[in-house]
Amino acid sequence: MGPPTVDQAYSDAVEAARADLGAFIKEKNCAPIMVRLGWHDAGTYCAKSKTGGANGSIRHTEENSHGANMGLTIALKWIEEFKAKYPILSYADLIQLGGYAALDVTGGPKIEFTPGRQDCDKCTEDGRLPDATKGPDHLRDVFHRMGITDQEIVLLSGAHTLGRCHKERSGFEGPWTTKPLVFDNSYFTELLTGEKEGLLQLPTDKALIEDPVFKPWVELYAKDQDKFFEDYARAHKKLSELGFVY
Ligand code: HEM
Repeated sequence: MGPPTVDQAYSDAVEAARADLGAFIKEKNCAPIMVRLGWHDAGTYCAKSKTGGANGSIRHTEENSHGANMGLTIALKWIEEFKAKYPILSYADLIQLGGYAALDVTGGPKIEFTPGRQDCDKCTEDGRLPDATKGPDHLRDVFHRMGITDQEIVLLSGAHTLGRCHKERSGFEGPWTTKPLVFDNSYFTELLTGEKEGLLQLPTDKALIEDPVFKPWVELYAKDQDKFFEDYARAHKKLSELGFVY
């Protein structure tokens, strides 16, 4: 099966909405939460049962009220505004497009968007997203369930180059890098530098340099930003298409 086909009107709306989302995100400086929203919609995927994934189900209170999703209703309200403006687009596509547009305006890799995600009203149970207090085994349990590899766990964690933790949302506080609105490889360079005043590393971030399989990837991406961008783009596209019928 190939990707679902969409008509010209749909493709045109995708292009217009991407530019519009980019301008909105840039003005509001809200790239980080848009990336987190896309990831939390997709990251419920289970490759075995073929449930969850990038299907827009996070728009339902049943799912966005899960502990890991604290704060994301702010971004979902904006997605509703874009849905009203581009009604032809599915929520699932709009949510992922928001993440792509956030990368566009923060200097990240430009990822080719494949449209056609179907909205799903069936929410998955709580507990499918990672717990930041845990270690490498937990990361593997959660991401391998989605079909995400060890290398991709490291790559996708690199999205923490954007944004910060908010005490009232996750209980943690602070950014990972000194430029949380710039997408670059500084998440990896900071991780290797060690703890620093004003910056944060979650236990699951530290797990990446404690584990002998994860660490070489951290070292590679800290050294080579072009390679990070190239590989990240592929990993992010895969994440954003979990549960998408191919
Ligand atoms: C590896 C497992 C991961 C864990 C345990 C984790 C955990 C967290 C936590 C606790 C926060 C702070 C939320 C808040 O207080 O506002 C956060 C923020 C964030 N996460 Fe992750 N995350 C993980 C992976 C990812 C992935 C795969 C992506 C994207 C590809 C991502 C993108 C983000 C972004 C951009 C933010 C900043 C949000 C903001 O500034 O509002 N994270 N993450």
